[in-house]
Amino acid sequence: MGLCSNSDSSDFTGKLYHIPHSKEKGEIDISVFSRSLSLSCACLLLEMHPLSVTLFLVLVSLTVALDNGLLRTPPMGWMAWERFRCDIDCHDDPENCISEDLFRDMADRMAEDGWKELGYEYIIIDDCWMSMLRDEQGRLQPEPSRFPGGIAKLARYIHDRGLKLGIYADMGTRTCMGFPGTMLEKIEIDAQTFASWGVDYLKFDGCYSNPVEQMLGYPLMSKALNATGRPIAFSCSWPAYLGGLPPNVNYSLLGDICHLWRNYYDIQDSWDSVQGIIEWFSNNQDDLQPAAGPGRWNDPDMLIIGNFGLSVDQAHSQMALWAIMAAPLIMSNDLRNLDNSARAILQNKVAIAINQDPIGVQGRRLLQEKNHIEVYWRPLSQSASCLVFLSRRTDMPYLYHTSLAKLNYEAGNYQAYDVFTGSKVTGLNAKTEFTVSINPSGVVMWYVYPEQRTLHSQHNKPEPEHHMVL
Ligand code: GLA
Repeated sequence: MGLCSNSDSSDFTGKLYHIPHSKEKGEIDISVFSRSLSLSCACLLLEMHPLSVTLFLVLVSLTVALDNGLLRTPPMGWMAWERFRCDIDCHDDPENCISEDLFRDMADRMAEDGWKELGYEYIIIDDCWMSMLRDEQGRLQPEPSRFPGGIAKLARYIHDRGLKLGIYADMGTRTCMGFPGTMLEKIEIDAQTFASWGVDYLKFDGCYSNPVEQMLGYPLMSKALNATGRPIAFSCSWPAYLGGLPPNVNYSLLGDICHLWRNYYDIQDSWDSVQGIIEWFSNNQDDLQPAAGPGRWNDPDMLIIGNFGLSVDQAHSQMALWAIMAAPLIMSNDLRNLDNSARAILQNKVAIAINQDPIGVQGRRLLQEKNHIEVYWRPLSQSASCLVFLSRRTDMPYLYHTSLAKLNYEAGNYQAYDVFTGSKVTGLNAKTEFTVSINPSGVVMWYVYPEQRTLHSQHNKPEPEHHMVL
């Protein structure tokens, strides 16, 4: 049955922010979503005023909450894209091409090199895994020469190592790299295929679709994933295609249907790119920060620590800011070849614990000083907090003088643990003036907690230990 208008996006070569518009009438088989949206509603929607569409979708969203208890803290894992892109040349580059071998290698490293114990668990396939053709039943299938064992077998391999498998699809006619997309009529079958393979996480991109198709497609995929009965984490790239901000983006709807979402441009292997992301998220924190919480996370994109673009100081900065932002800790690097400093940063237990703090409140930029020092803060459980002092300077280590009172801390006694040096600062009163030395494009990252009372209570019982062992 084909009744509604559809976009012809054949000339759309869009990446993030290039939103195609409907050009001409076409046909679309909407039978797949007629169960959730009536035929007439779905057709009408494509012709409706944007405001009415939003209202309609708010109603739809009431019925599609994705509440499978996953990702109460931000996801941790590894994803192929930033480091391995769309390298499909297994002939000349067998070690690095997108193939089952690459994901098995990463699963081995993740299971054997201490990552799993720290919480890194998802191994996520990105674009370029698919065959150009769907199978006879209309299902996506992996490119057989690069994934000869199929995805279900790869999932078993990954599960056998105590890890989880993520996969990539695109709400649109094609993926960003031109592989088969998931248009509305394919959402249900794709969700079922992924569940049948044992997939645990879906990154759902948005190339080659228009805003109306996205408004329909993301809630429908959420519902379709729910309907499979398999707990599948759902990562939505939708907001990134709408400029990332209200009023175009409805963050409360997103929080209901997705566990995490990409808000902004793709990360690249450079400090410029990392800085640009930090800057955009901080400039827009009033809109973004309240959207995050357990089961719903902003995603500033992958960790690129261990690649080519960041100095050691800049790698500290990415880790610190991603922890402050309660961002997914999804690395895209080569776990087979990591130097010790990258490994130590990515495996820093206190930075990870801060990122994974159970109250799940995203942090904020508190101050942007004229001297190009910025201060970030995140409240944590057990009355603790995290402070990050970031230098945007390009000269030499800068001595920054401040006090906790100047950073809005209440009167009281505190201790701080310097996350990357391991040193402790004791006897801090809120008014105590202190100085931190911050390297250019580097950070000082503090875990701050109320000082343990040294006096024991009447019954001589010690105060309970603070939960984080430092
Ligand atoms: C988009 C996404 C990236 C990656 C590529 C794959 O650009 O934002 O993260 O998935 O597509 O083509």
